[in-house]
Amino acid sequence: MIKLAPSILSADFSNLYCDINLVEQSGADYLHIDVMDGHFVPNITIGPLVVEAIRPKSKLVFDVHLMIENPDMYIPQFVKAGADIITVHAEACKHLSRTIQLIKSFGIKAAVALNPATPLNAIEYVLDDIDMVLIMSVNPGFGGQNFINSTLPKLRKLKEIISDKDLKVDIQVDGGINLNNVKEVVEAGANIIVAGSAIYGSDNIEEAVKEFKRIGAS
Ligand code: DX5
Ligand code: ZN
Repeated sequence: MIKLAPSILSADFSNLYCDINLVEQSGADYLHIDVMDGHFVPNITIGPLVVEAIRPKSKLVFDVHLMIENPDMYIPQFVKAGADIITVHAEACKHLSRTIQLIKSFGIKAAVALNPATPLNAIEYVLDDIDMVLIMSVNPGFGGQNFINSTLPKLRKLKEIISDKDLKVDIQVDGGINLNNVKEVVEAGANIIVAGSAIYGSDNIEEAVKEFKRIGAS
């Protein structure tokens, strides 16, 4: 059984509560919140204030994807705002192990994201310490991009490493996932699927959530 994490990056920001409620009622598991700073990635999105405002409105697991430089400086604010999982990019952390320890010191889950060109060995020595690896299947910064195919062998390799070590680490994939390629992504080893435009850009958001879950479970 996979978990589905709709990304609110593609939601209607003038109607955010309704768009969150819709995916929650349809069976989504996590709410994927994309935080961008205009430095690590060429886009600016959501800050802790928005996370704090939506927190009381939803029971979903708040999955906060930090695409920011110097994440240590902002992690406490996102924890306070209600994050359940915080993901940092290996490429953005000078002292990745310290950043993971910082996230875990708040009693929440810690995850590390890898850009499409970043090799898996970037997380080799922290894999035992984290709850989830986020494999980016697009270059971070924008919703609605095409899935990068080299992600599939990367997922297979990561799944193999995690199984060999007998670890309980989730594998999340983010970017360009739709109803046509989700099965392949799950077969390659992912168990948490992020989808933005394929859900919020759909004519029927509820049906899209249900279909993702159905394909993921088959
Ligand atoms: C991209 C973000 C993604 C984005 C995915 O930088 O991290 O979470 O919202 O959007 P889609 O599913 O449209 O590729
Ligand atoms: Zn994301």
